[in-house]
Amino acid sequence: MCGIVGYIGDENVTGVIIEGLKKLEYRGYDSAGIALCSEKNPLIVRKKKGRISNLEELIEEEKLFSHTGIGHTRWATHGEPSDRNAHPHTDMSGRIAVVHNGIIENYAELKEELIEKNGSVFQSDTDTEVAAHLIGSYYQGDLEDAVYRATQKMRGAYAFGVICADEPDKIVAARKDSPLIVGLGRKGNFIASDIPALLKYVRQIYLIENNELVVLKENEVKIYNADREEVHRDVFNVTWDEDAAEKEGYDHFMIKEIHEQPAGIRDTLGRRVDDQGEIILDGIELTREDLEQFNRIYIVACGTAYHAGLIGKFAIEKLAKVPVEVDVASEFRYRDPFIDNHTLFIAISQSGETLDTLGALRMAKEKGARIMSVVNVVGSSIARESDDVFYTWAGPEIAVASTKAYTTQLICMYLIALYMGRKKGVLSEKLYRLILEELTIIPDKLEALLEEQDHIKEIAEQMYQHNDAFFIGRGVDASVAFEGSLKLKEISYINSFAIAAGELKHGTIALIDKGTPVVALATQTALLEKTVSNIQEVKARGAYVFAVAQEGSKDQLKDADEVILIPQCMDEISPILSIVPLQLLAYQIAKLRGCDIDKPKNLAKSVTVE
Ligand code: F6R
Repeated sequence: MCGIVGYIGDENVTGVIIEGLKKLEYRGYDSAGIALCSEKNPLIVRKKKGRISNLEELIEEEKLFSHTGIGHTRWATHGEPSDRNAHPHTDMSGRIAVVHNGIIENYAELKEELIEKNGSVFQSDTDTEVAAHLIGSYYQGDLEDAVYRATQKMRGAYAFGVICADEPDKIVAARKDSPLIVGLGRKGNFIASDIPALLKYVRQIYLIENNELVVLKENEVKIYNADREEVHRDVFNVTWDEDAAEKEGYDHFMIKEIHEQPAGIRDTLGRRVDDQGEIILDGIELTREDLEQFNRIYIVACGTAYHAGLIGKFAIEKLAKVPVEVDVASEFRYRDPFIDNHTLFIAISQSGETLDTLGALRMAKEKGARIMSVVNVVGSSIARESDDVFYTWAGPEIAVASTKAYTTQLICMYLIALYMGRKKGVLSEKLYRLILEELTIIPDKLEALLEEQDHIKEIAEQMYQHNDAFFIGRGVDASVAFEGSLKLKEISYINSFAIAAGELKHGTIALIDKGTPVVALATQTALLEKTVSNIQEVKARGAYVFAVAQEGSKDQLKDADEVILIPQCMDEISPILSIVPLQLLAYQIAKLRGCDIDKPKNLAKSVTVE
């Protein structure tokens, strides 16, 4: 987690770094800090617990000026959020400052060694301060050499930005398993954890690879590999519009991103279906022979992306007739799954940096699986380490709660399932065409559904004062219930629980009381009667029921207190529509409860720690 940024160039770094940090706040925001150095000044370090605005207030009066600096926004791993634990951290001499994203696994060991050998005294509880002391212990007038030698001693994950008061004309950066990019500007060069941090200043980027070290000067960037040989890197030209990363008049990024779903789906589909209705998988070569030799597919992801995987399993098993197992990455990587070269491993990730998903991917790769990923962030680690990448074209997702990435992940999963089924010859032409046609009109249906906002706001008013909520559904509706429930709990802090509707009576129904909100997904035609029975069961215990169903089923749902009807569609693809009222419900409830919607407490957008 955490975000790092650095700048060396013509402009005053303070403004550049604060701007960059604001764009990275989604990666963590429990404290922030900045370190500057210049020929005239010794090292200046300022840091503050809380949001970046607190840091801004702290330095407002000082008018700090420098041409070289680094900054950090933190999501605590070692040590509580506090001024003391905020980055940057310095070495013993106070002349070297370090910002870090990642975790140094052997920090305790290194700390002991430093105390013993150098008499190091530490001011914080962080692993990063240990890294700063270690770099300092190797420093003999060459920062690059000291950083290199220190990284050789470390285990774990890192993206570092390092400056030194004795060499104010450079920033040294290094990467292992945590994201790091370099921005090439006309008036200087930058480092950052990701592209949006730099969009205001640059469009030309170097994507830094694992175990690489970078030396930035005002007019020069040099990249070195693990053997300290200089490497050539192609420039990556960013085509995103900076506006795409701004709120554009919406109150929050989350609601903006909910409304961007029709466009995101059009983009994700548009590039993949040709005029003849053939699916093009971005140059991914999956031949009939390839597909026939896969005897199992694992879909592995975390959180919302995992929920997209659950729908992916359903689609692939139904349309391509291959057994699929879906697992959360943090479990998958530490069990002993059966993997060989007949395994297809599909990772789903918005950020492409989730460490658990990346770890699972590496394990599957090592055991011979073919690796495919469904990723939103272009050039991210998961994308780069996969054999085949299928991008969701959702655009930058800033709100911590994932919305448009999820619906575009669903589109990708349907496209993959349709493609596989057709290639293998197990899917009828009729069903293939029908689903594809339905997918192409989904964005229009979604636009119609977004008009229901006012009705959903009324429902939110009935629910927002409750501290518990339940989500139920059957078949794919159960997977949508999991995602709807996660959305609600993460941004409104309501204790929300999702369960397959048929399981209610085996325990959970004990928690239903008078007025308890129950959100019932009832979009599956074949399962409607069964779900209606489950609605009656909770109604009989006094629940307040909000049902989501397809147009035409209102009569069967007369027991529900409120019903939102999604436009009619094939049951198979209803999740793309039925999630939208749940996203809006979570948003409206969180708003009524006065929550910080885009940056919920304890969460970060990109989870680059285990
Ligand atoms: C919830 C949410 C998280 C992410 C999860 C995986 O709204 O956003 O549950 O889905 O942390 O992140 P990615 O998709 O970046 O791998």
